[in-house]
Amino acid sequence: MPQFTSPLDNSPLEIKLLPGEKITEGVQEFYDTGEDPYKGDAQAVAQGKELYETYCQACHMPDGSGRIGPSLIGDSHHYPRFTTDKGMFEIIYGGGTGAMQPFGKRLTQDQILHVMAYVRSLKK
Ligand code: HEC
Repeated sequence: MPQFTSPLDNSPLEIKLLPGEKITEGVQEFYDTGEDPYKGDAQAVAQGKELYETYCQACHMPDGSGRIGPSLIGDSHHYPRFTTDKGMFEIIYGGGTGAMQPFGKRLTQDQILHVMAYVRSLKK
C-alpha cells in the first residue's frame, strides 16, 4: 500500500478495512499503480453511478456541477490533488472540511474506486 496522506494537513492517512472488507484485485492494482483501474470500464462506471446517487449527488449534484459541495467537473479544484487518482481517493476516504465527511468509514475502498470512476466520467 502506498503512503496515503490527509488532504487537510498532509498527515499520514491510515487506511483500515471495514468489517468483512477484502482487498479486491482492483484495490490491489490501485495500490500498485496509483491509478483507478475502473476508469472507462462501463460496468464499473455504472456501479459507481449508483453509489454516487446514494452518497454524493445531494451535495455535488447529479452532473457534478456542485451545490453544497464544490464542482467536480470544473478545471479548478479546492484540493490540487483532486487531479490524481491517489489524491481523489484521499479526499473521499479521509474527508475534507465541514459537510465532506470521511467516506472511508462507510464505503469499502473498492466502492470508492467505483465512485471515482463515475466522477471522472462526468467531466466532458
Ligand atoms: C453533505 C454534503 C456532501 C456530500 C454528501 C459529499 N460531499 Fe464531497 N464535498 C462537500 C463539501 C462541502 C466539500 C468541500 C470540502 C472542503 O473544501 O474541505 C466537498 C469536497 C469534495 C471533493 C474535493 C473537491 C475539490 O475541489 O477539491 C471531492 C473530490 C468530493 N467532495 C467528492 C465527493 C464524493 C465522491 C462524495 C460521495 C461519496 C461526496 N463528495 C459527498 C460536501 C459533500
